[in-house]
Amino acid sequence: MNISVKTASHTYEVIIGHRILAEAFAKYEQLFDKADQIIVLTDKHVWQAQEKYFTDNASFSFKTYIMPAGESCKSFENYEAVQTFLLEQRSTRKSLIIAFGGGAVGDLAGFVAATYMRGIPFIQVPTTILAHDSAVGGKTAINHKLGKNMIGAFYQPQAVLYDTMLLSSLPEREVLSGMAEVVKHAMISDAQWLEEMLEGDLVHLPEQLLAQYLASGIRVKANIVEQDETEQSVRKYLNLGHTYGHAIEAAAGYGRLAHGEAVMIGLVYCLLLSERYGKITRNFTKRFLHFAVANGYPFATVKDYSFDELTTYLLKDKKAEYGELQFVLLKTIGEPFMQKVELTVCQEVDNELRNLIAEVVS
Ligand SMILES: NC(=O)c1ccc[n+]([C@@H]2O[C@H](COP(=O)([O-])OP(=O)(O)OC[C@H]3O[C@@H](n4cnc5c(N)ncnc54)[C@H](O)[C@@H]3O)[C@@H](O)[C@H]2O)c1
Ligand SMILES: [Zn+2]
Repeated sequence: MNISVKTASHTYEVIIGHRILAEAFAKYEQLFDKADQIIVLTDKHVWQAQEKYFTDNASFSFKTYIMPAGESCKSFENYEAVQTFLLEQRSTRKSLIIAFGGGAVGDLAGFVAATYMRGIPFIQVPTTILAHDSAVGGKTAINHKLGKNMIGAFYQPQAVLYDTMLLSSLPEREVLSGMAEVVKHAMISDAQWLEEMLEGDLVHLPEQLLAQYLASGIRVKANIVEQDETEQSVRKYLNLGHTYGHAIEAAAGYGRLAHGEAVMIGLVYCLLLSERYGKITRNFTKRFLHFAVANGYPFATVKDYSFDELTTYLLKDKKAEYGELQFVLLKTIGEPFMQKVELTVCQEVDNELRNLIAEVVS
């Protein structure tokens, strides 16, 4: 399957399918031929699990730089180390970077590509489910010790080559984390699709259906990014579940909860808010929570953090404009809208969430 993403800066393709890597690489042969050097940025786990498949399918020669796994590759230290490597290898403006990994590798590699010699081309080869989200849209970033993703750039890849065979080595917890973003994409776009997911087993989807869901998620994201590349308007809808989710993620300490695990908790919080400001019913919220708990999302952890603790992080949200809390909510499934919510209401709904979790999880 091919999905094109049109942005103001340029248009590129997402190629998605099972065992398509060789074919996808062949399609971009010109780009590889043109490059004076190809640098693959990857992380330890990904390279360990998928080096052979990558190498067997690459028709070009490349140099590999292996980074610490996961979020730790998004540090200033690693960013500098990668730039040093590129300079030592005498990479030029004509060199090409391939980001081979999950969202963390993609974010780091994208930011390196955006800034090395003021910008060199890069290709995303995502290896996680979550990366169906992070690889599309052109947001790149590294972390500062005062905040995640605080230093970055909007920078679009030349292509996204998404071979779902690479997902076969993904730990189950990462599957769970990534699927939360797929659920989010369904919630902001398509009630029938969400309904289908609520009836199934999210973690053990048949290969074909998984690829189909990922493609649908990419379409939702691409569509929104095309309308609003730099998050002035509709792109904000992609933050459904993220305001509260980020607060939980930060309170837990980054790395303790997977991003998507926290987002799933945030999605339930948004449903509760949407009962007040939209037309979501309590019955639906409960059904959704049952579904999320049954699939293994760690709702019991919410009680480990007080609302006061979460507030500190809620107020730090990049989307908190002039100190007011901005939430993406749902009129109904598939119809997102922005809503300002006062902190007192946030606290009431936080309390509702805790009560509902106690009821459902026990
Ligand atoms: N740019 C965006 O628009 C955007 C959107 C959402 C999230 N993000 C970012 O994405 C990051 C999270 O991405 P992620 O969930 O993909 O996590 P990740 O890149 O940290 O990968 C998760 C773990 O799985 C391992 N892994 C990855 N692929 C594997 C594979 N195929 N086999 C075995 N192990 C594998 C990694 O080494 C890591 O330990 C966060 O930093 C987040 O900020 C960015
Ligand atoms: Zn997310």
